Amino acid sequence: MGVARAVLLAASQNRWMRERAARFSFIRRSVRRFMPGETLDDALGAARELQARNRGTVLTQLGENVADAAEARQVVAHYLEVLRKIHAESAGTEISVKLTQLGLDLSPQLCEENLRRLLAAEIPGRTIWIDMEASPYVETTLELYRNVLAAFPTTGICLQAYLRRTQADIESLMPLKPSVRLVKGAYAEAPEILLKDKAAIDANYLALAQHLLRAQRKGAIVRAAFATHDAPLIRAICEFAQAESIANGDVEIQMLYGIQTGEQQRLVNGGWRCGVLIAYGTYWYPWFMRRLAERPANLWFLVKNLTGS
Ligand code: FDA
Repeated sequence: MGVARAVLLAASQNRWMRERAARFSFIRRSVRRFMPGETLDDALGAARELQARNRGTVLTQLGENVADAAEARQVVAHYLEVLRKIHAESAGTEISVKLTQLGLDLSPQLCEENLRRLLAAEIPGRTIWIDMEASPYVETTLELYRNVLAAFPTTGICLQAYLRRTQADIESLMPLKPSVRLVKGAYAEAPEILLKDKAAIDANYLALAQHLLRAQRKGAIVRAAFATHDAPLIRAICEFAQAESIANGDVEIQMLYGIQTGEQQRLVNGGWRCGVLIAYGTYWYPWFMRRLAERPANLWFLVKNLTGS
């Protein structure tokens, strides 16, 4: 792992820094590069604009590791309101949730109940995505996902290509016909559980993407979405799809709001399916630090906003 990435990921977990970051306007200005605003209305406004430009949209309220059941219930109430608003607009927008925001640290049972309340409020056939968090949560996240899939068969799960275990996890989910959003992975993890370097992670990502695309074509999984900003990797996925005669509209690439917008447009122009994940909320500090860690060059936004240039 690069030194800058390691330092930024360590800082993402620092409570002292989290509590102080929002006081600095230059940091808040930098965060705006990755999120349209802190409120649900800001996010819905951005979703409308993106949909008008043929992007799919996924909303996520920032927050993780809630400390009590009442807080988890508030998160559920918030997402129920989000679903109500999305359905009222008959928008294609989906939501993506973190299980630690629904109470996973308190108890898996409570978390599953909360998750089921959201899934029950979603229109059948639409997808609610479950984020994948740091490795200590992977096993329980998969278990909860398996528990809900029979009743809610279009629920989606995020899987991380940087983990050695992910290929086996995909195989074990296959009989349940999952929907998978494949990412590289965003957390600081022990080297033993990770693939050895970026080249190995990228190669694993492409191999898993090819496997998922073939499975989707056979109807063995419901849906595959490839969440990455990596342009060469996206090109390789698209080339594979074309070589396999998979229609462009059956290949879905997802990116984060504000990143690689040119690449998003190129995909839309080519008839590929392109989605944008829009994060909003006040609890942006750890999430923002992970975005800086992914591309330490993003630190320049902070510097520019600090100097006002
Ligand atoms: P990589 O990090 O190799 O970057 C490739 C190129 O993309 C870079 O060279 C740069 O040009 C561009 N790029 C990447 N990140 C950038 C950034 N922050 N700013 C500017 N340019 C950037 N992770 C996780 O562990 N659990 C999850 O549930 C999710 N969910 C999720 C949903 C969606 C829709 C996306 C797009 C991503 C996630 N992630 C995630 C994050 C994911 O694991 C990963 O950290 C980032 O996507 C960055 O990795 P890339 O695949 O983009 O490649």
